[in-house]
Amino acid sequence: MNVALPKGRLGEQVYSLLERAGYPCPSIREENRKLVFENQSAGVRYFWVKPSDVAIYVERAAADIGIAGRDILLEYRPEVYELADLGMGRCRMCVAGRKGTRESRDQTLRVATKFPNIAKRYYSAQSRDIDIIKLHGSIELAPLLGLSDVIVDIVETGKTLLENDLEIRNTIVPISARLIANKVSYKFKHEEITRLCQQVDLLCSKP
Ligand code: PRP
Repeated sequence: MNVALPKGRLGEQVYSLLERAGYPCPSIREENRKLVFENQSAGVRYFWVKPSDVAIYVERAAADIGIAGRDILLEYRPEVYELADLGMGRCRMCVAGRKGTRESRDQTLRVATKFPNIAKRYYSAQSRDIDIIKLHGSIELAPLLGLSDVIVDIVETGKTLLENDLEIRNTIVPISARLIANKVSYKFKHEEITRLCQQVDLLCSKP
């Protein structure tokens, strides 16, 4: 099974879970810049992938399964199966703005975000005209410098908002990491994928 892991802290947490679930690959813990790690006896090959790219690898069958944040799944709506909520990487997608300011309903709202599709759907459900400003990081800067009126972004601890004098206006959706599978792999590697999923579910449901 080819498994796309998101690089970073979440990926390391997920790998520990998979290790405990019976899919170890000790070489992955070695300090190096390798991206592919294989353990033939456990039947797994892991790849480190940029978190926002995991769904693409799985959708296009470069990986059979992967772990992607619900934010990415909602933004790109990839053609994959969502098999389990791993309960890790919990955060929420929020609208935030500068403390002490209010959004005027009469003007087009300028929204800075890394998630234009989520933002568009959210505001279109409210029949609100918006101007999307797509950024790739440090979204919180946009309202501070007058580039946007609000942001639509991930809030985890709330520290970034707090330290930049911003506040949450609305929570759009809760986010957590999901185990996803390629649709064809799910059919042809059904037994392996289902077994992995069951092992992971067992560990996730333990307190
Ligand atoms: C994310 C997100 C917020 C921050 C929220 O950014 O876009 O900026 O984390 O976390 P907090 O609520 O715990 O402060 P990330 O760290 O991915 O960096 P980025 O600004 O480059 O997108």
